[in-house]
Amino acid sequence: MGFNNHGIDAMIRNIEASSYQGILGINIGKNAATPIEHAADDYLICLEKAYAHADYIAINISSPNTKNLRALQGGDELSALLETLKNKQAHLHAAHGKYVPLAVKIAPDLDEAQIEDIAHVVKSVQMDGIIATNTTIDKSSLGNHALAKEQGGLSGLPVRGKSNQVLKLLAEHIDGALPIIGVGGIMEGRDAAEKIRLGATAVQVYSGLIYQGSALVKDCVAAIR
Ligand SMILES: Cc1cc2nc3c(=O)[nH]c(=O)nc-3n(C[C@H](O)[C@H](O)[C@H](O)COP(=O)(O)O)c2cc1C
Repeated sequence: MGFNNHGIDAMIRNIEASSYQGILGINIGKNAATPIEHAADDYLICLEKAYAHADYIAINISSPNTKNLRALQGGDELSALLETLKNKQAHLHAAHGKYVPLAVKIAPDLDEAQIEDIAHVVKSVQMDGIIATNTTIDKSSLGNHALAKEQGGLSGLPVRGKSNQVLKLLAEHIDGALPIIGVGGIMEGRDAAEKIRLGATAVQVYSGLIYQGSALVKDCVAAIR
């Protein structure tokens, strides 16, 4: 758990070696060892290195597995981080002659006041998008399941209700100012259609692919249509 990986340079080498064609989103987060007050440095390094290779970049401040990461969702911390990244984006836009949208990814474990604050910040710094949601730390839906006390974020069906609740409130507060990407518990096509109905402009699937494979994508497209 956590962002255990070989780092941004290794990831870029992998992208350069791949023949993949299509829309590529790159998801960036801070190192576990970086103190939270220096978090922006890690995001800036990743943004700079990933920029030329990405079609969009997701700013991950909502993984439950990196200590204190979710503290970056608080109003003041969030606006400081996102403003810094939007300034960097403006410089990179000029340097590369290419505009790469930035979307911030939030947790499902937020109350309405926090969601309202986040909506206010993303509108005022003119983020290009917001992704709702990451995994949940709320294991209550698992009841007495043998693994209910395990650490880590919960994805798939158990996060769907919370993700949809956050999406609905977020869409009300965002009020069309920027696109929302809905994610969390899309296990079949109608779950994707529900996200669009609640205010998402696009959807992402992750855990559902494990159960349905790529047929899930076709099912989502058909249900949304
Ligand atoms: C094993 C695993 C690893 C994940 N890694 C990341 C990550 O690095 N960055 C991120 O923003 N979200 C990460 N997520 C969250 C997913 O992208 C997604 O937001 C979440 O699982 C809810 O969607 P789902 O129910 O379709 O899986 C991860 C989820 C899982 C299960």
